[in-house]
Amino acid sequence: MTAVSVRHTDLADRGVLITGGGSGIGAALVEGFAEQGARVAFLDIAEQQSQKLAGRLSEKSAHPVIYLKADLRNVAETQAAVDEAAARLGSLSVLVNNAGWDDRHELDAVTEEYWDDSQAINLKQMFFVSQAAVPHMRKAGAGAIVNFSSIAYLLNMGEMPAYTTAKAGIIGLTKSLAGRLGPENIRVNAILPGMIVTERQKELWLTEEGIGKMVARQCLKRVLTAEDLVGPCLFLASNASAAMTAQTIVIDGGAL
Ligand SMILES: NC(=O)c1ccc[n+]([C@@H]2O[C@H](COP(=O)([O-])OP(=O)(O)OC[C@H]3O[C@@H](n4cnc5c(N)ncnc54)[C@H](O)[C@@H]3O)[C@@H](O)[C@H]2O)c1
Repeated sequence: MTAVSVRHTDLADRGVLITGGGSGIGAALVEGFAEQGARVAFLDIAEQQSQKLAGRLSEKSAHPVIYLKADLRNVAETQAAVDEAAARLGSLSVLVNNAGWDDRHELDAVTEEYWDDSQAINLKQMFFVSQAAVPHMRKAGAGAIVNFSSIAYLLNMGEMPAYTTAKAGIIGLTKSLAGRLGPENIRVNAILPGMIVTERQKELWLTEEGIGKMVARQCLKRVLTAEDLVGPCLFLASNASAAMTAQTIVIDGGAL
């Protein structure tokens, strides 16, 4: 159950596609849209946890929550998955480009192959998922795309240059797509999360000391969780933000 108390009635029955919905922030978003009565599909490479989530949410939601397996680095596979999602949802007018891979990497160790793989999952796929979704949004007569960037690229972080380059690129992509698609009534905005403490983040990167330092830096003195992203994302997807496009919103507890 997410903590969102606002009901966006226009999201009920709306076709929504979320990438990387199997865990972390994406899973909270899948649940948040399902709670609004939207028709939700999500793409993820991690089969087991995604099937479990879809099963759990389908039992309590107005519509079955659809999971489709896709490796977003494979453009053809992803395009086919977007078309299948749209067909099974009945229509598609919201896309949340959430999937990412914030692997840490040392400057001297980055190979060409590593760099390309990082861009493939963090940046390139966002363009091609959007490209595949747009014809369905045109058919629906309107659309909203929400891209997940990060405050990481504004913090001069030295331990993940490929990731932060991609996250900065997402802002360029957001503004460019907004300019191209605005005349077709398709809005494109971005969210920049701060430090969001998920199970995976705790397992892989975060220490109690690191979390403490970020909380001390934030204006709000508490740990941020995946649920904190749900309200802002629903807002950008819904008619509540009908005149808003080409913008970025920072959800970081006031760390910047
Ligand atoms: N957690 C944070 O602190 C934080 C901070 C800033 C920005 N973000 C951004 O928010 C988004 C979600 O973050 P998160 O922490 O929940 O991420 P995560 O790594 O926990 O989850 C990402 C999801 O994407 C899926 N995925 C990874 N590679 C894939 C591939 N090749 N094909 C299909 N699916 C794939 C994973 O299985 C996972 O379910 C990302 O874009 C991330 O960069 C997160």
